[in-house]
Amino acid sequence: MITANENYNKLNASYLFADIAKRVQLYQESNPDKEVIRLGIGDVTLPLPPAVIQGFKRGVDEMSQDATFRGYGPEQGYLFLRQAIAAVDFQSRGADIDADEIFVSDGAKCDTGNFQELFSNNITIAIPDPVYPVYLDTNVMAGRTGGFKDGRYQGIVYMDCLKEKAFMPDLPDAPVDLIYLCFPNNPTGATATRDQLAAWVDYARENKALILFDAAYEAFIRDENLPRSIYEIPGAKEVAVEFRSLSKTAGFTGTRCGFTVVPKACMIYTANGSKLSLHDMWNRRQSTKFNGVSYPVQKAAEAVYSQEGQAQIKANIDYYLANARVVRQTMTELGFDHVGGENAPYIWIDGNGRDSWEFFDLLLDKAGVVCTPGQGFGRCGAQYIRISAFNSPENVAKAMARVKDVLKKR
Ligand code: MLT
Repeated sequence: MITANENYNKLNASYLFADIAKRVQLYQESNPDKEVIRLGIGDVTLPLPPAVIQGFKRGVDEMSQDATFRGYGPEQGYLFLRQAIAAVDFQSRGADIDADEIFVSDGAKCDTGNFQELFSNNITIAIPDPVYPVYLDTNVMAGRTGGFKDGRYQGIVYMDCLKEKAFMPDLPDAPVDLIYLCFPNNPTGATATRDQLAAWVDYARENKALILFDAAYEAFIRDENLPRSIYEIPGAKEVAVEFRSLSKTAGFTGTRCGFTVVPKACMIYTANGSKLSLHDMWNRRQSTKFNGVSYPVQKAAEAVYSQEGQAQIKANIDYYLANARVVRQTMTELGFDHVGGENAPYIWIDGNGRDSWEFFDLLLDKAGVVCTPGQGFGRCGAQYIRISAFNSPENVAKAMARVKDVLKKR
């Protein structure tokens, strides 16, 4: 008899964004003439920038010729891309990351989800609340938690991110082994200063812990004083892995490309305390389970790092940040406290005591606007909603006008 991994029974029946998509589809089926505006899942709406399309096309053309055709590529990604990433994203900012510490992948969701495979099942894990659900769900699937009770999985150290602390997690009271951090944050849009990140790096060094740092939204940082990479903090290379994505940075949600930095100095321990190279382990994992990203996609990604590419993605991000300003302004006018949207594409809105799913239903039913209910990101999100800036300025303006109409009446 084939038996199941029963850890799956501990999970919510469906993944947050799949659940929302289903609700929106039902709404559309029963209201076929209503136009729905989507400010829920963070999915880009602008097409790939021209420089990226040119790179993509060059890659496709090369695949059509005997002399330049390529079969399997290196599992870690082509050197031309890894070198471009190391130079532009890290070395230019004083972070000493080498091309061979970079592993190109099909996105940060897969990497943040897969990375936990490298750890034993008895580690202590600290996870912020609210949080991007992938970090938590993949550890549940792997059997690192108990059951779900009072909105939380047993066995996880939750780090509450509360309004009174500007949505920053506190350092855990007791030592933990693995810490998930995401800045600019999904879902709150909060950002971490250099000093705040340095406190985490110190904590990890003192406790022989590892930080999994999700920097998928770093390209939205406009405040030059904020760090974009954890490796801008001295000492981080020994204790942190960083995940990056071209999805929101360069419009790759449908094209799929991201990367993970696993510094060679990063160590992990065996049960008897001897050191193992985390880089070697991830390399072993990737070369066994992953065959790399397609060549044309890596050529498209390489073009993101050209001068034109960098200017074009900056313009696209500015376009979304202008939408975020409109959302923030509307929420201020309506008297709802909010954070995010300045160095991040998400605005985290306090519903003034309203339950987040109720708020979601209200905006969908009465305004035809899709947001994300904060409860889906954890118990601390139960009275918040997240609005994403990914849409056209016209749609954002229309959505905010409808939201104003609905909320002013209540
Ligand atoms: C989100 O809306 O939180 C993101 O789009 C989800 C993701 O990147 O997987």
